[in-house]
Amino acid sequence: MTLVLENLAAGYGGTTVLRGINLVVPPSSVVALLGANGAGKTTLLRVASGLLKPSAGRIHLEGRDVTGSSPHQLVRRGVCHVPEGRGVFPSLTVRENLVLQSVAGNESDAIARAVSAFPRLGERLSQLAGTMSGGEQQMLALARAYIQSPRLILLDEVSMGLAPKIVDEIFEFLAMLAQSGASLLLVEQYVTRALEVADFVYLINRGEIAFAGEPSELDAADVFKAYVGVGL
Ligand SMILES: Nc1ncnc2c1ncn2[C@@H]1O[C@H](COP(=O)(O)OP(=O)(O)OP(=O)(O)O)[C@@H](O)[C@H]1O
Ligand SMILES: [Mg+2]
Repeated sequence: MTLVLENLAAGYGGTTVLRGINLVVPPSSVVALLGANGAGKTTLLRVASGLLKPSAGRIHLEGRDVTGSSPHQLVRRGVCHVPEGRGVFPSLTVRENLVLQSVAGNESDAIARAVSAFPRLGERLSQLAGTMSGGEQQMLALARAYIQSPRLILLDEVSMGLAPKIVDEIFEFLAMLAQSGASLLLVEQYVTRALEVADFVYLINRGEIAFAGEPSELDAADVFKAYVGVGL
């Protein structure tokens, strides 16, 4: 599904965080959004999922203007947001977390789909989500997104704080999602991995797009400069 952000601005209270943002997520592609802490990556994903209303600009999904739509309306259009931190209910079991995300009557299909993506979850259906390891909780968060069959997935630092082996597993899953036709907008701290999986990359610096192009056009030094806030 195509997402287009056009000349977008957004912020909190009187503070503008994002300015003049033009960004395109083409169909069935992975777009990486990289930038320093506080650059506005999470804010951009919150605008794209309807959690935060833009103060200027337009949001288009599949050519339709959806500016001002609620998160719920965007979920119904196939947009799914995996937020920073882990989007699971810690005091519910793994099964309950999955059932909450499923359509009534389709609970067992949803669980089967989640377990097919992450077999480890199948062994832990009765475990309270909050007692699982960080990696397992992130798998559950991704599985909850996956069972909605989303067409556009907004991912906010899903590999944060996880062991390299689990990060590998998560990136394999993301590649599979993209191959299955979903579009991904990926905020990542692991720059190299993000550039490996991405078709397009945007660097954001203090709320403005500093670079847009293909990963092959970037070198690690440019990204590093963006990360330490020196600019390109
Ligand atoms: N709820 C809020 N109220 C006020 N200011 C906020 C709020 N959320 C974020 N900000 C500010 O907006 C700016 C951008 O924050 P954002 O969380 O989008 O950055 P980020 O690029 O995701 O950073 P990080 O890499 O640390 O996650 C920061 O200056 C932050 O302090
Ligand atoms: Mg963030």
